[in-house]
Amino acid sequence: MAKAKSVFFCNDCGYESSGWLGKCPACLAWNTFVEEKVIKKSDGTRGELKTSLKAMSIKDISIDKEERFLTGTKELDRVLGGGIVKGSLILIAGDPGIGKSTLTLMVANNIAITNDVLYVSGEESANQIKMRAERLNTNSDKLFILAETSFGEIKAYIENTMPSVVVIDSIQTMFDENLTSAPGSVSQVREVTASLMRIAKTLNISIIIVGHVTKEGSIAGPRVLEHMVDTVLYFEGERHQAYRILRCVKNRFGSTNEIGVFEMCENGLIEVPNPSVVMLDGRPTDAPGTAVVCALEGTRPMLIEIQALLSESNLAMPRRMATGIDYNRVSMIMAVLEKRAGYKVGMCDAFINVIGGIKLNEPSTDMGIAAAIASSMKNKPLDPNTVFIGEIGLTGEIRSVSQIEKRVGEAFRLGFTRCIIPARCDLTKRFVLPEGCKIVYARTVHDVFSQGM
Ligand code: TYD
Ligand code: MG
Repeated sequence: MAKAKSVFFCNDCGYESSGWLGKCPACLAWNTFVEEKVIKKSDGTRGELKTSLKAMSIKDISIDKEERFLTGTKELDRVLGGGIVKGSLILIAGDPGIGKSTLTLMVANNIAITNDVLYVSGEESANQIKMRAERLNTNSDKLFILAETSFGEIKAYIENTMPSVVVIDSIQTMFDENLTSAPGSVSQVREVTASLMRIAKTLNISIIIVGHVTKEGSIAGPRVLEHMVDTVLYFEGERHQAYRILRCVKNRFGSTNEIGVFEMCENGLIEVPNPSVVMLDGRPTDAPGTAVVCALEGTRPMLIEIQALLSESNLAMPRRMATGIDYNRVSMIMAVLEKRAGYKVGMCDAFINVIGGIKLNEPSTDMGIAAAIASSMKNKPLDPNTVFIGEIGLTGEIRSVSQIEKRVGEAFRLGFTRCIIPARCDLTKRFVLPEGCKIVYARTVHDVFSQGM
């Protein structure tokens, strides 16, 4: 017999508990537990096997090459591994106002040139969507708009009209009448997503779900979704800056660590096929405290400027600030510079900033951070045509980094003429050096920063 049971969920991570808890044991958030009624069928008996159910040997399973819809934006196609796979469920998550609706409407419009697309909005009326569409200049015949939040209705509508692609904007506004909890709650979001998954797989319809990220950084109602869907994309960026990065964190049909770069303009999002050029735009070439690094975002090398400003501190505890990089990493690099290369940075206020609102989390950028700090400290500009690549260890050694050819190649392609790279990454046999270009092999921080730079 079915009976209603009270279950408590953490609103952030979806952790389930039979009683209320003040602090979530999984994500350590405070005051996030909410009570929800869940109906569970009691089963204590062994299930009876349906005769039709039979597992197949993996050898006997044949596959056709999966069909994909091209989205009309090369950046998104690349992030997805070559377009939207037919019958797949994709989650696009991001902060409110970052541009998820804009991106999905553009994609829906592009696919609707040849296929039926249903755009379901629980947030905006058809009029509002039309206004946005005018701005984006989108008016495909086969793009249908449905302003609705009742999931039962939406499901029936999809089953009756059988569009090729469906966009659900956003999952937190959808409401399944069979559940008592409020829209956006863990069980609503979870149930609706599970139903969408069934629709996608049984009817072979591709579905894009838009999900809002809460302040804490998890999708509201939440990370429970990540393991249910085929592909998870995060749309990131500073709201007041024009650049947006679309990052793939899970992909059942392609590589995960791809990124796409977009710029938010008056008339929607435009692709940025060559992000290095954009990131270095306006770089001062004769000022102290700026260095260029080459970070890998997925398979893509990207040149990024790092700036540092050091000044003597009047405080007992000097101020340290890092934007776009881990604060602890900066502290470590400063300590290594002090101990191994003789820079007296301990009594300085230090501000380190990654330009362009980018977040770096790769140790290969250590050398660039150190170079910017050293340059600011000496008040001497670095050579503007040099790119710094390498991880710094605690003994001051410069450690090798992955895919060095790609990074060096990108630097030379964009007109830089000198790369300082770890001595262990020997490129002499593997790399054809363009004319006028030079690779400097560095062994320790002491070698690089003690004399000139
Ligand atoms: P939106 O797609 O509504 O964000 P989300 O769905 O992620 O909440 O984008 C909202 C922001 O984008 C809004 O602040 C205005 C800006 N925008 C532009 O700059 N240009 C445009 O052409 C459009 C449609 C929006
Ligand atoms: Mg929106």
